[in-house]
Amino acid sequence: MRILVVGGGGREHAICWALKKSPKVTELYCAPGNGGIASVAECVAIQVNQFEEIAQFAIDHTIDLVVIGPDDPLSEGIVDHLEAKGLTVFGPRQNAAIIEGSKVFTKQLLRKYNIPTAAYESFERYEDAVAYLRRQQAPIVIKADGLAAGKGVVVAQTLDEAEKALHDIMVAKVFGESGNQVVIEEFLTGQEMSILSFVDGETVCPMVPAQDHKAVYDNDKGPNTGGMGTYSPLPHIPQAVIDESIETIIKPTAKAMVAEGRPFRGVLFAGLMLTPNGPKTIEFNARFGDPETQVVLPRLKTDLLDIFLAAVNGRLDQMEIEWSEEAAVCVILASEGYPASYPKGLPIEGLEDVQESIVFHAGTAVKDGAIVTNGGRVLGVTALGRDIAEARAKAYADADRIRFQGKHNRTDIAKKALV
Ligand code: AMP
Ligand code: GLY
Repeated sequence: MRILVVGGGGREHAICWALKKSPKVTELYCAPGNGGIASVAECVAIQVNQFEEIAQFAIDHTIDLVVIGPDDPLSEGIVDHLEAKGLTVFGPRQNAAIIEGSKVFTKQLLRKYNIPTAAYESFERYEDAVAYLRRQQAPIVIKADGLAAGKGVVVAQTLDEAEKALHDIMVAKVFGESGNQVVIEEFLTGQEMSILSFVDGETVCPMVPAQDHKAVYDNDKGPNTGGMGTYSPLPHIPQAVIDESIETIIKPTAKAMVAEGRPFRGVLFAGLMLTPNGPKTIEFNARFGDPETQVVLPRLKTDLLDIFLAAVNGRLDQMEIEWSEEAAVCVILASEGYPASYPKGLPIEGLEDVQESIVFHAGTAVKDGAIVTNGGRVLGVTALGRDIAEARAKAYADADRIRFQGKHNRTDIAKKALV
């Protein structure tokens, strides 16, 4: 089969890497791809928002399945666009991708169907939001309604900080239209856990859970990023809690989307807080997580293409998905300055010295035949091991073998799982 993956980050590298293992895949393309994806797929110079060009490429190359990686094109309706041209696509349609694209939509859905989440109110007017905020207590959480490259959430430690966030989002419009509405939400405490599931309508096939590290510095200090590292499984979280999350949050949400006439087909990503009162929803995403995917897919034993095909054909209920018992740890190597501005085009050395890890490229390009930096998150170094300690030791040993100017990474990825 001929497959086109849309996207160009670490997530798409992991998807291409997993698809490449399928004996059914004869041609694998990635638009636009990146410097590392080029080693497993043919990169095509089309950007993820060029729907027309993507459709034309897929038609010209008789693509059997298009797989969409990132959130932005999903929210903008890429699946509807490609399906209208007769293409087969793995990913949610626009009316289901809204579960990530609008936090107000999702909070209303969860409230309507009694699915556990933080208490909240939503606002369209800044004055109303401020008036409500002044009656609350800190810490409190402010969220821009729309997509904001993972940066639209402020966990405010004081009401002043919360009011500034409201002003930034609703008045200064630092996230543009995404700030037309806000959610003001109760602060939840507990461990965080990500569960990604393959979903077709009401059928939910959960993947193994993972934990991300969003803050840029060790001990969860500094501003939030897209994610600085992940690990799977979560040995310190009881299976009963994982099961409870699936039964009380993920399955009811898939069912609610069907009931709303918005059946979800694709990867539904639940961001959960394991509070003293049980698991609660922090957010849903409409796609594979990045860098969650870089630890989840290396543990997948079943052919990923078979799963995608089962989902697009409405046969996920007949799939038996198998996972490796091994642990996986992914350490992100980032550019100097990330998550703020950063340089690009710096040479990367030591990739050939990596011994025991898979290096997923998040932001790289090929320049004059050499791999150079081309993003904030540059590489994801993933290692497998018998347990987290072994996987972690291997990933860090290899992360240290890779060099580029200004490289930085957290040194405490997966540390919570060691105690
Ligand atoms: P999100 O972009 O919605 O995943 O939020 C980014 C991060 O903010 C999450 O991973 C949590 O660490 C934190 N966060 C979001 N909502 C809450 C909440 N209600 N209580 C505590 N932390 C939160
Ligand atoms: N790692 C979090 C996300 O993909 O949104």
